[in-house]
Amino acid sequence: MTNKLSNVDYHSHILPQLDDGSESLEESLQMAKAAVEVGFETVIATPHYETYYYKNDREIVLQAVAVFQKAVGEAGIPLTIEPGSEVMLGPEIPDLLAENKLMTMQDKKTHLLVELPVSTCPLWVDDVIYRLQLQGITLILAHPERYLWLGRDLEWLIAKRENGMQLQGNIGSLKGKYGHGVQTRIEQLYRHGLIDLWGSDAHSVRGYQIITAP
Ligand SMILES: [Fe+2]
Repeated sequence: MTNKLSNVDYHSHILPQLDDGSESLEESLQMAKAAVEVGFETVIATPHYETYYYKNDREIVLQAVAVFQKAVGEAGIPLTIEPGSEVMLGPEIPDLLAENKLMTMQDKKTHLLVELPVSTCPLWVDDVIYRLQLQGITLILAHPERYLWLGRDLEWLIAKRENGMQLQGNIGSLKGKYGHGVQTRIEQLYRHGLIDLWGSDAHSVRGYQIITAP
């Protein structure tokens, strides 16, 4: 995994009707076409897992990926879809991982894409990260540039990264998708070589088109 853009999209809400991403199979196929047009060969589908809103567990994601990959192939779109999820961290998440309920990146059980609330940092965050790492999983923190509670201070992220966490930047952040503050943050993280991998975090066709937009 690398600090450069690659032909793998590590974060996408491309699967239909599982979360706040694609609303239909048709929209998902349009997203797949748009992903190919901007240069991706593989998309890791990462629907939200949120304990009280989106219970997209391992079985659900596996089935959805199989159905969608078939549709992508039948539509003649040269794109590989692999399973993943974007897990909202919470005190219950370590137990769910231990029970094999969560979809890890590419179902390899080595990396887990996780997110945190944007505006406030929960008190349990260090404890939960520690309990997950004790299970031997590498955590990938989604869009570190978007967490307002981190401010401009890189210390927390640097410490977590030195402790084995990887950081996934949103490509759209570089384009100002989330405003000037987030754009400045991603540029700062990128300059310091702290971004391990990139993803579109696309929730629609626009999420891919913005990558090549002027
Ligand atoms: Fe996401």
